[in-house]
Amino acid sequence: MIAAVSENNVIGKSNKLIWNLPTDFEYYKNTVRDKTIIMGRKTAESPDFFFSEKRNLVVTRKEDYKKDGLEVFHNLENAIEAAKNDGEVFISGGSEIYKQALSIAERLYITRVHAVFEGDAFFPEFDKNEWKIVSEKFVKADAQNSHDFTFFVYEKI
Ligand SMILES: NC(=O)c1ccc[n+]([C@@H]2O[C@H](COP(=O)([O-])OP(=O)(O)OC[C@H]3O[C@@H](n4cnc5c(N)ncnc54)[C@H](OP(=O)(O)O)[C@@H]3O)[C@@H](O)[C@H]2O)c1
Repeated sequence: MIAAVSENNVIGKSNKLIWNLPTDFEYYKNTVRDKTIIMGRKTAESPDFFFSEKRNLVVTRKEDYKKDGLEVFHNLENAIEAAKNDGEVFISGGSEIYKQALSIAERLYITRVHAVFEGDAFFPEFDKNEWKIVSEKFVKADAQNSHDFTFFVYEKI
């Protein structure tokens, strides 16, 4: 799973991101650009969303949902099954999809934004005893990036 998450686990508000972190956005694009990504329908419709150049799978319960560039699935299991031969596959949100996928995720790419935000979408709590940090890089706020943040990669123990 890949997400940018505030100290209080906020990931978005009104179907948008709530910070301006171009360095994180570049990292996100570089990480998923050539990978299959799976996302919820609301994330796919978020104005901030970046699509992979490989495959973009969306889950929705709407029977007749269509959107250019997206493969549509009506449950998460079928989307994951469809991607099983694609190598590393990213769950890219939002809140509902992260919650459902946490128990099967093997790696978490978490950009921890070092601030507290108000929002309406949250990353699920995960038990730090079940995950080990395999990489960590702090980035200081600057003229482009509104907040300090740290790139973490966790792997399931
Ligand atoms: N900070 C980050 O890294 C990050 C990343 C991604 C998203 N976000 C934020 O997260 C927020 C969106 O999250 P969200 O929880 O509101 O929405 P979401 O998870 O993106 O999408 C929810 C939708 O997915 C569909 N869905 C969920 N579970 C399903 C299932 N089991 N089977 C079939 N369809 C299913 C439903 O679509 P239908 O209603 O069409 O049936 C549901 O309404 C936004 O604020 C966005 O900016 C943040």
